[in-house]
Amino acid sequence: MQKVRAYLKKEYPRFLEELKEYISLASVSASGNKKEIQKCAEWLLAHCRRIGLSATLYSTAGNPILVATTKKDARNRPHYLVYGHYDVQPPEPLELWKTPPFVPTVRKGKLFARGASDNKGQHFAHLKAIEAYLKTGTSLPCDITFVIEGEEEVGSSNLALFLQKNKKMLAADGVVISDTNMPSLKTPAITYALRGIAALEVTLFGADRDVHSGSYGGSIENPAMALAHLLATLRDKKTGKILVRGFYDGVCVLTPAERARLQHGGENDAEFYRDFLKVPCLFGEKGFNHIEHTTTRPTIEINGLTSGYQGVGSKTIVPARASAKLTMRLVPDQKPSAVIAAVRKHLVAHCPKSVTMEIKSGHGAEPYLFEPKSGAVRAAERAIKRVFGAPPRFIREGGSIPVVTDFQKILGLHSLLIGFALPDDNAHSPNEKFELANFKRGMALSAELWQELAK
Ligand code: BES
Ligand code: ZN
Repeated sequence: MQKVRAYLKKEYPRFLEELKEYISLASVSASGNKKEIQKCAEWLLAHCRRIGLSATLYSTAGNPILVATTKKDARNRPHYLVYGHYDVQPPEPLELWKTPPFVPTVRKGKLFARGASDNKGQHFAHLKAIEAYLKTGTSLPCDITFVIEGEEEVGSSNLALFLQKNKKMLAADGVVISDTNMPSLKTPAITYALRGIAALEVTLFGADRDVHSGSYGGSIENPAMALAHLLATLRDKKTGKILVRGFYDGVCVLTPAERARLQHGGENDAEFYRDFLKVPCLFGEKGFNHIEHTTTRPTIEINGLTSGYQGVGSKTIVPARASAKLTMRLVPDQKPSAVIAAVRKHLVAHCPKSVTMEIKSGHGAEPYLFEPKSGAVRAAERAIKRVFGAPPRFIREGGSIPVVTDFQKILGLHSLLIGFALPDDNAHSPNEKFELANFKRGMALSAELWQELAK
């Protein structure tokens, strides 16, 4: 282990350059620039081979999946999967970035770029730890297989099929994922719950083209106005309760003990929201605190709203159409399909006759919750304590990683969620960054983790 840790230290400057190269590839999955995505996947493939893994790129109906392994036949040691995603969120709005999103830049110990934290920097730390074992000739106590996909940010819809088809190759003892947050630099975490998600897009159509608002405004419905009214029926203005019939079906009621524990979320508290996000005050479902709002309660969010003229100045029209992208965040035991059906029904029932409506369902993922008591969790706890100098806090988080429930259902594997991201990393926002201190600790943690997991 001494040799591994020394290698990680000595080679760090090169690792950072490599990470920058990886992050400079604009692998945005939502807009589907296939060329950039392919380039990124191939870079990763070549890199995995260079560090001594046997690696293959599998094509899918969508973006390729990389599998890279230390596993050779006829060895009998624990086998762990490490999951990550090389796709990133769209970088827009570009004008809000201090340095361009795909020109990775270090400022004050932080690496700024889209994908630095979510998720390239995090899984790259695991790759470097394995490189350290392989290049120093240190025997690995476990076999490791990396599964790094290119569609996480759009719902991982091709990954489940891939798991189905490759059950034998992917048979393992567990999954390790670093794609979550820790409360602060001082407080590492193990995440034991994630919210699920269901997406849909609703479009209202009025006239068959944009028309003069002077000549026609008043005699035909304005789809943007109709959409505003329609969306407003989804949530109670004062209490924040979702008004869709059946929406809360299956939502688990927490024990008083867990609710009490969630009162003390720590650093990610009300002040953080005010200071970091500059909101005038918090808003959330009545009867629950802000930690519950983002972890144990379901929501409906409008992610995008589009209609009419968006250029400079004004243009007097009644737009032909208006649309909204919605996602619902789900908690145990809500089901994405049931929630989609309920929201659809609500929209149909509340849509005025003066417009026509089209609803497209998008991706869905189930919520994840597990009892963090296994031997693997204890092993992770020991490794975290050693590297971070503090025990992990056990947290629930509000984001989603669609594949975790697929790993469970298809391969029968639990996912150990140990994130190196911070709440102020600006994931999905302009000026995303990754703390280089966490890149270093991520590598060290990975190196120690395999020792502990093998015990
Ligand atoms: N890294 C996040 C998941 C995450 C975010 C976990 C915050 C814990 C806290 C991941 O890359 C992500 O953004 N997932 C998407 C999935 C969706 C598009 C299906 C999400 O949560 O929006
Ligand atoms: Zn993300």
